[in-house]
Amino acid sequence: MVKVTWLGHACFTLDDGTHRIIIDPFLTGNPVAKTKPEEVRVDAVLVTHGHGDHLGDAVAIAKQCDAPIIAPFELAKYCEKQGAKIHPMHIGGSHGFAFGKVKLTIAHHGSAFVGEEAEYTGNPCGFLVTMAGKTIYHAGDTGIFSDMKLIGELTPIDLALLPIGDNFTMGPEDARIAAGFLKTKQVIPMHYNTFELIAQDGDAFVQSLPEGCRGTVLQVGVTFVLE
Ligand code: NI
Ligand code: MN
Repeated sequence: MVKVTWLGHACFTLDDGTHRIIIDPFLTGNPVAKTKPEEVRVDAVLVTHGHGDHLGDAVAIAKQCDAPIIAPFELAKYCEKQGAKIHPMHIGGSHGFAFGKVKLTIAHHGSAFVGEEAEYTGNPCGFLVTMAGKTIYHAGDTGIFSDMKLIGELTPIDLALLPIGDNFTMGPEDARIAAGFLKTKQVIPMHYNTFELIAQDGDAFVQSLPEGCRGTVLQVGVTFVLE
């Protein structure tokens, strides 16, 4: 059993009762987030790419929890320079941690951290996280790609967290097709309704999912129990 809690945008915590991790912790400056970064207690911080709405509070949370940031190599090294503990990985690679297994997938997107100056943080990724016998795919920010079929073939997916906001990532129509490519049993939409530009109808999206794939619209702060 894994408790999957949506903290808004692309940020989720995964908790199996023993270990808890956070993915893409964009809390400060996130207009829909209800959780403060100081409240977060996790064993690891996973970050898909360097954009501010994903890297977010990752360094602060990693430091306060004495937890590693797990990210693509260049992004991990960027976080190390800010004083965080890191575990660098890269696309196609997997590693077993105390909380479970992580494998990095491709994602078609950008990744530079764009502050006052842009800082190169490598390629963006998605994550396959296997905890307590369940595999969760966090797609990161990406357009649809046909290798999603391969991802689902190599690793049966219990739950896919898919962006549906359009403009910067897949929109709902492509995310529906992506769910079919992945052959995932369940889907939770993400990366929408944070800002006006990525407003979408989550209910209409989950109703459009292919047969045999169940969708759940989460409200921010609500936990979905993956059994
Ligand atoms: Ni992005
Ligand atoms: Mn984004």
